[in-house]
Amino acid sequence: MPTTSTFSPTCAAVDLSALTDNLTQFRRVLSPGCGVLAVVKANAYGHGAVEIASALIRQGVARLAVVSLEEGLALRHAGIDVPIVVLGPLFREQVDDVLAHRLTPVVSDPALLTDVARAAASLSGPYPIHIKVDTGMGRLGLTLKDLTALMTSGRFPASVHFEGLMTHLADTDGESADATERQLAQFDQAIRAVAAAGFTVPLIHAANSGGAVRFPHARFSLVRPGIMLYGYHTLPKSVPVPDLKPVLTLRSTVAQLRTLQPGQTVSYNGTFTARRPTRVAVLPIGYADGVSRRLSNCGQVLLRGRRAPIIGLVCMDMMMVDATHIADAAVGDDVVLIGRQGHERITADEVAAWLGTIPYEVLCAIGPRVPRRYHESGPAASTLSI
Ligand SMILES: Cc1ncc(COP(=O)(O)O)c(C=O)c1O
Repeated sequence: MPTTSTFSPTCAAVDLSALTDNLTQFRRVLSPGCGVLAVVKANAYGHGAVEIASALIRQGVARLAVVSLEEGLALRHAGIDVPIVVLGPLFREQVDDVLAHRLTPVVSDPALLTDVARAAASLSGPYPIHIKVDTGMGRLGLTLKDLTALMTSGRFPASVHFEGLMTHLADTDGESADATERQLAQFDQAIRAVAAAGFTVPLIHAANSGGAVRFPHARFSLVRPGIMLYGYHTLPKSVPVPDLKPVLTLRSTVAQLRTLQPGQTVSYNGTFTARRPTRVAVLPIGYADGVSRRLSNCGQVLLRGRRAPIIGLVCMDMMMVDATHIADAAVGDDVVLIGRQGHERITADEVAAWLGTIPYEVLCAIGPRVPRRYHESGPAASTLSI
């Protein structure tokens, strides 16, 4: 979001050096020749798709993945020129725009293949597509039977280039590897069916971050990391994981401090009642910015390097924390909701645990009106002046 002032009381500080480090660490597990299709959907998991995509391209990432036509168009309009794969379902009404902007569709049903082939027929050369096969996610993709029928029909359209064959693994972060192994066995059948029909498909891909790290035989010629680029993972503790750094710090600023007397309440519906004189810090960030209302009376923030509990209901634009034990807290103090401050740290994992969810959801929830501030190096932008 554009800002007129350089001071943003609430912002997300995005450390592009941490992103680069995570990419380097992640690439170390890949064999030479295995490419990275970096997943920058959902505004790059809340980090800002254009800046993250640009930073990854500077590091040699040759392909990006988004989920929708709109996400692809936003990158194209920002001047991003590398191949962009649209992972999500596409509709026939969107096909012309997909081709006009050189986005690579993932074909998950035969009808879409017909639509793409028709639109591509007027172009000069075969148009690249990826075909997805469902091996157990139960979401998108041709069945193995449909794929085999398509391959052996002799009617594969000449106007399209079968550039990629993919599947999506549903349980790479599960305790057991069994479901993933079953999916990989099915995918192997799909690869054989395609090869047996005489197709040479340059890009074969199945693995998300966890799949790529945990299952070497899931790497094929391309992997699709998302969450690990941003410094998180959900793999079981038993799985060795590259050394990752969280890329994003979510911060705000103390806007007001007030003292409540015993019996006074905080925020809508009076869900928090002061039992003693209570110093309350008001923060200009709320659920419209991505701080879940379910953190009301449950989550914490960092203030002057110490944890301050969230009290009362989180409002749309503001929230309150108990700063009674932080005697020197002052208006204008930096507050960290995700990230480090002093010796303390709150990760998206911890916030996710409070909410009973995963770090993905916590990061993606950070709303569009939170300005993203990009920096190259050093500690995430928490200025702790104590
Ligand atoms: C099809 C597909 N591939 C790859 C990814 C990236 O997954 P991760 O963020 O776990 O690396 C996603 C994300 O949900 C996805 O939907």
